[in-house]
Amino acid sequence: MKHTHPHPRATLGGKLSAVLVAAGSSVGLGNIWRFPYVAGDNGGGAFLVIYILCVLLLGLPLMLAEFTVGRASHRNAVGAFRALDPKWGLLGYIGVLSAFLILGFYLVVSGWTAEYMVHSLTGDLAHYSTAAEYEQIFTNFITNPWRPLLYTVIFALATHFIIALGVQKGIERSAKVLMPLLFVVLILLSIHSLLMPGSGEGLRFFFQPDFSKVTPSTLLVAMGQAFFSLSIGIGTMITYASYFKPETNLRHTALNVTILDTLVAVLAGVVIFPAVFSVGIEPSSGPSLVFITLPSIFNGMPLSMVWSTIFFLLLVVAALTSTISLHEVITVYLHEEWHMSRRAAAWATTLSTIVLGAAASLSMGVWSGWSICGMNLFDSLDFVTANIMLPVGALLTCLFVGWRLDREVLHAQMTNNGTLPFRIYRVFILLLRYFCPAVLLLVFLDNLGVF
Ligand code: PFF
Repeated sequence: MKHTHPHPRATLGGKLSAVLVAAGSSVGLGNIWRFPYVAGDNGGGAFLVIYILCVLLLGLPLMLAEFTVGRASHRNAVGAFRALDPKWGLLGYIGVLSAFLILGFYLVVSGWTAEYMVHSLTGDLAHYSTAAEYEQIFTNFITNPWRPLLYTVIFALATHFIIALGVQKGIERSAKVLMPLLFVVLILLSIHSLLMPGSGEGLRFFFQPDFSKVTPSTLLVAMGQAFFSLSIGIGTMITYASYFKPETNLRHTALNVTILDTLVAVLAGVVIFPAVFSVGIEPSSGPSLVFITLPSIFNGMPLSMVWSTIFFLLLVVAALTSTISLHEVITVYLHEEWHMSRRAAAWATTLSTIVLGAAASLSMGVWSGWSICGMNLFDSLDFVTANIMLPVGALLTCLFVGWRLDREVLHAQMTNNGTLPFRIYRVFILLLRYFCPAVLLLVFLDNLGVF
């Protein structure tokens, strides 16, 4: 299927670049901040098992489905579905809206990491020692009316200027160098964490499954976390794949990204949980978990200031490569569908997300009295996107690619026009057509209390 391209499009470099940009989007605060907090909230070991199953059986086929839609159409999320089937454009809108809502709270957490980086550098974080003190300074910080706001705005502007440099230059360069470094630092930190007194209890919590703790909501949360972490169900992988070259091996790319992303999440768990139990923090502390635990870990290390600065710097970069991908989904949509110049589209995205991000940031402090279904704006953006919008986007995407999309288009994308073998193509089709939609629907109905 051939389409005319109204807008000239960049392509990404070699094989490594496709993996790097997609991994740059996937690996982020979702792995290091969100994964430990939801795993801690949902009982640890059993959650980990369900999470990994979700990644392999739902996440991987869906990433391939999104790659297919993106590279077959060379368009933004809305234009891509529309080009392949005019009736399915609506699905792209869910993605663009999800990207906007996620950016709203993601920028806030990114801002927190930037603040922690600055405080590590100035040595401020080293003035405290107990977990209770770290909890106090974290609460003071996020409820402060202007400091987190300032960092949210700075982060949004940083994302904007990288986007303004263009897809290739901005995204590829940062991902190439710093991602491997993040990995190395996480390994070193996990070794340190494992050597802390009482770390065994944390390891047991994280690795020993207790399925009696599993409820319907555990399944939904694990699924939502898998989609959030892999950046799927939202159009990000569609947008990125629209820049991939015809020679890019989509299956290898998806497999590498999935493995990398899951390794980083598991490593983050190995860093966080032993320390959580060692210093006596509640594993179910929610979004603050990592921000209280990490300083406690650095505190016991020689040259704590250096470690803590390096780590938060890497976290800032990991967050940036993810905010860039979210921003890109909206920018390229506005550029191609609304015919705005790329510059104007990028500014419209940045300014609107700053407004939402500011509101989300203030909802942690001065506006915390305002609630939506008992949650402040920040928590409701986090909850609604990961637990409702991404799974709905994922469900519709697998229905579209599994049932509606021309089989030849799918096969051609998976095998690069028949030049690559795909031995388990049948399994892939079965997962996409039957297994994924069935599981997604069942988990939804279960959570609505139908069974
Ligand atoms: N996957 C990113 C993370 O784990 O931090 C967050 C994210 C980026 C979610 C892009 C969705 C997305 F489209």
